[in-house]
Amino acid sequence: MTSPPYRICLVCLGNICRSPMAEVVLRHRLGKAGLKDRVQVESAGTGGWHVGEPADARALAALRERGYDGSGHRASRFDASMFERYDLVLVMDRDNLAELHRLAPTPAAGADVRMLRSYDPRAAASGELDIPDPYYGGADGFSHVLTLVERAADGLVDQLAATLRDTGT
Ligand code: 4NP
Repeated sequence: MTSPPYRICLVCLGNICRSPMAEVVLRHRLGKAGLKDRVQVESAGTGGWHVGEPADARALAALRERGYDGSGHRASRFDASMFERYDLVLVMDRDNLAELHRLAPTPAAGADVRMLRSYDPRAAASGELDIPDPYYGGADGFSHVLTLVERAADGLVDQLAATLRDTGT
């Protein structure tokens, strides 16, 4: 019998820039680590302005430049009922974290909620855990987000590989 997949949701504000980029990168890294069927990755935004839209053209371009394809993305909004659907909810910045705490004020609700960058050892050591919102900036900001996301995804996949191996789940 196969165990159910470990479920992760990546969360930012609009679900058209940072979390879709993180979703594509994390899924790619999980595939390379042979964990594609063991870990399911989705993303959502705390705000609903862009629901149903594809990722921002600048996010898609930054992804394409490094060989990723984000074209399948459609934005969705995170709501309180979704905490139960996930094992782990990973946010991009402190505002996202505060918003999720507002949605679920008690820790009882299912998923573990953490900052994505806490999985990047360099960021964890520096204490700078925000992935800055690139929406009102230029292409540089999107490229920078992608670099930060790639580092965090590497750390996260290492940890997932070790955990899933140890628990046999
Ligand atoms: P994201 O970026 O949270 O990384 O998807 C944003 C996208 C849209 C808006 C803000 C941030 N907005 O205000 O519409």
